[in-house]
Amino acid sequence: MLDASAAQRPARLAEGEIRKLLPAERQSLVDHLLRLDPLSRFMRFGGVVSDAAIARHATRLMTGDAMALGYFVDGELHAAAELHPLPRRPGKPSSAEAAFSVERAWQGKGIGSALMRYLVLLAQNRGIEELQVVFLPNNAPMKHLAVHHAANFSVDDEEVIGTLKAPHATIFSRLRELMGDVFAVCSSAFDLQERTLPPSMRGN
Ligand SMILES: CC(C)(COP(=O)(O)OP(=O)(O)OC[C@H]1O[C@@H](n2cnc3c(N)ncnc32)[C@H](O)[C@@H]1OP(=O)(O)O)[C@@H](O)C(=O)NCCC(=O)NCCS
Repeated sequence: MLDASAAQRPARLAEGEIRKLLPAERQSLVDHLLRLDPLSRFMRFGGVVSDAAIARHATRLMTGDAMALGYFVDGELHAAAELHPLPRRPGKPSSAEAAFSVERAWQGKGIGSALMRYLVLLAQNRGIEELQVVFLPNNAPMKHLAVHHAANFSVDDEEVIGTLKAPHATIFSRLRELMGDVFAVCSSAFDLQERTLPPSMRGN
């Protein structure tokens, strides 16, 4: 099982911040997914997908029971992680599927790992016991990421499914998410202000 303290460590990134994505930020998510280079886009969706399918995916993500995290630099979204709860099966642990997208220029800088830690925290606080990550067999970074989080793997010709166990929720894991939520609301409000106010009124 994943070490609980690892799941609760804040993301330490040289620049930028990780926070929950709010429904109003759907367009930022679409723009981010459309900015993925062709290989990353293929790896993220496990095949070729149209721009329209990406837009529909973002709408479903932001309006359903899934959750999304974003990595922002100067108010712009450059990476995301998604948590999609899976239907409950009798006698099986509650589970969710995780998916990650980091734009090429930001890959290999620890952002995927930081998103994974935060996603485990969200799963933990929702009583989700297992996290699944589905990826193509040649996706070395994703495999490293899953190995790092002690995943078990099942492999076939077309895809690998990594399964991670999430720790139980604690008062600290709930508190940490709450603090992140407060930060997310303030931060998105500042980002909105930056985008909508005329330059003379932005205070910088
Ligand atoms: C897969 C992905 C999410 C990883 O995110 P990232 O920010 O690039 O990864 P990190 O910098 O946090 O590194 C994660 C691990 O991969 C390793 N890694 C990074 N780049 C690598 C590379 N090019 N080749 C091999 N390993 C690599 C790191 O050393 C690290 O390993 P560790 O956990 O053992 O230390 C990102 O590359 C991505 O979005 N790819 C396109 C979409 C995709 O493949 N999504 C996954 C399917 S849903």
